[in-house]
Order: sequence, then C-alpha cells, then structure tokens
Amino acid sequence: MAILVTGGAGFIGSHTIVELLNSGKEVVIIDNFSNSQPEVLDNIKKITGKDFKFYELNYLDKEKLEEVFKENKIDAVMNFAGFKAVGESVQKPIEYYTNNISGALVLLDTMKKYNVKKFIFSSSATVYGDPEIIPITEQCKTGGTTNPYGTTKLFIEQILKDIYVSDNSWDICILRYFNPIGAHESGLIGEDPQGIPNNLMPYIAKVAAGKLEQLSVFGNDYPTKDGTGVRDYIHVVDLAKGHIKALEKIEKEGKGIFIYNLGTGTGYSVLDVVNSFEKSTGVKVPYKIAPRRSGDVAMCYADPSKAKEELGWVAEKTLEDMCKDSWNFIKKNN
Ligand code: WQD
Repeated sequence: MAILVTGGAGFIGSHTIVELLNSGKEVVIIDNFSNSQPEVLDNIKKITGKDFKFYELNYLDKEKLEEVFKENKIDAVMNFAGFKAVGESVQKPIEYYTNNISGALVLLDTMKKYNVKKFIFSSSATVYGDPEIIPITEQCKTGGTTNPYGTTKLFIEQILKDIYVSDNSWDICILRYFNPIGAHESGLIGEDPQGIPNNLMPYIAKVAAGKLEQLSVFGNDYPTKDGTGVRDYIHVVDLAKGHIKALEKIEKEGKGIFIYNLGTGTGYSVLDVVNSFEKSTGVKVPYKIAPRRSGDVAMCYADPSKAKEELGWVAEKTLEDMCKDSWNFIKKNN
C-alpha cells in the first residue's frame, strides 16, 4: 500500500517524502512542476537511497489522476499541491480558488471513487486570521482571512468537515502550519523562490548571498518586545515529521477528523531571526526599518500541546538550526 503525495516536488512535500521513505513507506508522487524543479526528485533519491513512482500531472486533470489510482494501491493521500503566495493570491483569486479548491475537490472525489479515505491536508495558521488569543490553540476561532490564499485553506477545512459528516468512514487530519523555514541538512532540497521573495527567511538568505541589497523590516512599532512582528518559525524537517505522526494516528486509530497546530510554541521577532542568522552563519544581514506591511498581525505563535499529547510530536530543531540549514541550501544552490 502506498502513500500518494500531491505536490511532492515542492518545499514541504519533498521534505515529507524523505521522512516517508525513511520510515519505510511506499510513495507515489504527482507534481506538475508549476512551482518546483524536476531535480528535486533526484535529490530525494540521493538523500534516501530509495525509489518511488512519479507522475507528471496536474491534479485537476481527473482522467489522468484516476489512472494513478487504478495503477497503484493507494492507502492514504497527503495534499501539498496548493498555490501558496499570499500577495499573488490577491492578484489572481480565480487561479488560487481553482487550483487549491477545485484541485482538492477533484482529488477527494477521486479518492471517494476508489474508496481511499485517509487524507492529510496542509492547512495554515492563516485560518486563524488575527488570532483572538496567543498562543493559539486549535479551539481558537477561525475565519477573517485577509487574502484568497488563506481563504482557500479555510474553505477546504470546511469541505473536509462536511465530507466527514456525510461519511464518517473517512480519516482526515488537518495540519495547521505556522512559519516553515530551514531545509534538509544535506542542502539538497530546500526553498528557493523565483524572483523577489515575500517571506522573511528566503529574503534574508538572498540578502546574505548578496543578491538583494538589504532587508526591509516591516514595522518596528508593534506591541512586541522589540516592536517587530513575532512568528512561530518551524524547521521544515520537524514539520515533515509531524506528517508521519499524523499518518500513524489515522492508520492506527483512524475514524475521525483531527486538527493540529504544527509550530514550536515559541515566538521570535524579525530582529531575533536576523540576529540568529548572523550568529549561526557568520554572515551580516543589512536591514532598514520600513513601514508595516498591510495584512500583517503583530504576533502569531502556536500552542502545540495537542500535537504533543495526541501525536507524540514536538518540534526539536532550534532557530539556529533553521538559519544554518536555510543558508546551507542557498549557498549550495546559487
Ligand atoms: C514573517 C515576519 C513580516 C518579509 C506567511 C503567510 C502564511 C504562511 C507563512 C503558508 C512578519 C516580516 C517579512 C520581509 C519583514 N504561509 N517580514 N520583511 O506573513 O507570517 O506568513 O507565510 O501557509 O500564511 O501569510 O510570513 O515570512 O512573510 O513574515 O519584516 O521582507 O517577517 O512582517 O512579521 P507571514 P513572512
């Protein structure tokens, strides 16, 4: 029995596949390389020494997707095939709703047809909008998303809840990621966005590599310890391991719809990240203070205790590990 991974060549998908293969799972990957490179697949093989089946296809293509279910014995599906750039989603809402929501629906409908009912979904802390309490628990109110990307995550969560109500033989796990950064320690896979990055760590790495002049710190007048925004950065390998624990839970215990925050529980400010990057890599990151970025909240970090209690999962890597591994990947790939 295999695990089907959609968007497996992407940042979080690729790291999760490494963990799946290392834990002895059989993996089938689909990806259309809309935001990733084919070399990633070779690098997964180099890291693990293991092989997998791969299909180049768009998960909206129901006919081709069905072939995958016909040709393989799929036990569970992990869905990473989403567009994820917040700013772009504001410019291209139709593309975001189509790819993320219609894509998920085609996938879920195909799963239903082939009686595959174990699903792990990549959601995001963005579903909490401006969080009502900090640290954020899974009970916190969701909604009030500020961009189409976030709204796709919120809507898909609702779709999954409705599917479970209609048929409680599904086993569904919704994982709400906080801020994934870092890279595999080999430096073979990681995140290298095209063009000017939107997110903090890729931007810092480009400044450190001399490709961008300086970092703009978006606001230093938030009600936080140093005035800059506070987030829960989580190493992508810890995040990937969270998926293995989630899979174990639905494989062993099953029957239900489960929601977990995947974060470290510690908030770091923008300046904490800059300082940690400089300390752990020895490379200076010039920065200037710039106006606040619209849509940003002051603070967002997780209460990850539910994942600890129910999955036996805790994030183990430090902010220094995250900085070092991000930099190692960028150095090797530029
Ligand atoms: C982090 C902090 C910025 C860039 C986004 C999505 C979220 C999730 C993760 C996927 C903030 C500051 C940033 C820069 C800066 N994505 N910053 N200068 O906004 O917390 O979350 O990515 O699920 O849904 O919204 O992450 O890395 O963009 O920002 O000062 O050039 O860094 O203001 O305080 P964010 P981020």
